[in-house]
Order: sequence, then structure tokens, then C-alpha cells
Amino acid sequence: MRIIVAKNYEELSTKAAHLIAGQLIMNPETRLGLATGATPIGTYKVLVKMYNDGLIDFKKIVSFNLDEYYGIDSENAQSYYYFMNKNLFEKVNIDKNNINIPNGMCEDIEKECNDYEAKIRGKGGIDLQLLGIGRNGHIGFNEPDLKFEAMTHLVDLDDDTIDANSRFFDSIDEVPKKAISMGIKTIMHSKKIVLIASGIDKADTVYDMIFGPINPNLPASALQLHKDVTVILDEDAARKIS
Ligand code: F6R
Repeated sequence: MRIIVAKNYEELSTKAAHLIAGQLIMNPETRLGLATGATPIGTYKVLVKMYNDGLIDFKKIVSFNLDEYYGIDSENAQSYYYFMNKNLFEKVNIDKNNINIPNGMCEDIEKECNDYEAKIRGKGGIDLQLLGIGRNGHIGFNEPDLKFEAMTHLVDLDDDTIDANSRFFDSIDEVPKKAISMGIKTIMHSKKIVLIASGIDKADTVYDMIFGPINPNLPASALQLHKDVTVILDEDAARKIS
């Protein structure tokens, strides 16, 4: 793992965006794995600026998002589809046909998950996957105790995740209890991984991810086994490691 400690959230966002931009420049047909949540918003802002400045091009990029709430349709303002459109897709020239996000309204979950995996494989796998990390150590929505072998699947969200994500909803009761998520194995197949974490409430989890035992109780600890992971932290998230 390469660990980069940025001064603050802004610098973290710039460093993450630069790594992604470098990948897009090296390979304009990059299969890009994307994350939602609060942490990547700054990264997407920098990418949009770089696009507007003519530095990067999304025309041939194929994107795969990590996850989507189950039972929420893409028009819903809480859906990750909506989030991605608002923060990135509608601001750059990505081809809508190249955007892939699990369908939270699918009727046949198993088929949706298998098709998602097949599509990732069919496109040649993910070149670079952007990740955040949950307070409980989840990546994607792989909650503690899930086997590392999991591929894309339906997840029961942890109480801690529901609590953490309630900040995006009017009330905690509105937070979906399930999501479709790439599995740890899907994520581990990515050629490169960039994980970003910001804020003091991630400091313990980040420490355990890097130095703790490799254990499905902390799903992100699986990343210790990946050959190309860059972790970008702000000083608060790095508080326990520095
Ligand atoms: C989002 C995702 C989650 C988040 C994590 C951190 O697609 O897969 O793993 O990255 O919950 O969320 P924030 O950034 O809101 O702290």
C-alpha cells in the first residue's frame, strides 16, 4: 500500500483526481470504478474542472459504480445514479451508454448481480477503482463479516452504515436497508485501487485497515493483499498512523 497524507480535504481531492486523470490520459478507454458518498465529491469537482480545462476526456471511458441502494429508482434524488449524474456524469462528456450502476429496481436480483459481474469481465475488468471507506471498515457496501470471496450481491446494510448515511436523508427511517454492491472479490480484481478517507471519525478504521489483521470483520483489510493500492488521507484520517 502507498499511503499519501494530504494537508486537508481539498488537497486529498486534488491528489485523488490527479491519479485518476493520469489513468485517463494514459488510457482514454479506461474502465473506471467509481464510488459515491461524501468523500469523493471533491475529487469529482477537480475532475470536472480538469475536463473543463481540456486536460482530460471522458468520451471513451466506461464507468462502473460500486453500489446502489435496493428499492430506489434512478430518478430518486437519493439514488447513487442521481448522485453520479449530479456530481460528475452530466458535467463531462461520458457516453451515457458507457455508464454502469447496479439497478436498484431490478426484479431478479441474482440475474442483475450476475449480469453486472459479466459486464465488468466482458469489458476487460476495472483498470482503476476509486473507494471510500465506512466507519465500520466497509468498502462498497461490503459490511463486516462478509466473506472476502463475495462478488456483486444484495447486502443487508449494517445499523452503523444506516446511521452514517442518515445524514443524506430527512430521517433515518428513510435510509434503505439493502443495497446491491460489488463484492470484495470484484473490487480486488481491479488493477489499481485508490482509497480516500477524510475526517477524524475514519482515523481508527484507517489504522486498522493498514496495520490490523486481515479479517472480514474489517472488509477494507483485504486491501493489504492487493498489489496496487494507493490510500490518500487528510491529516485527520491519518491521525493514528502518523
Ligand atoms: C459508496 C460506498 C461506500 C462509501 C463509504 C464512505 O459508493 O461504496 O463504501 O465510500 O460509506 O462514505 P463517505 O464518503 O460518505 O464517508
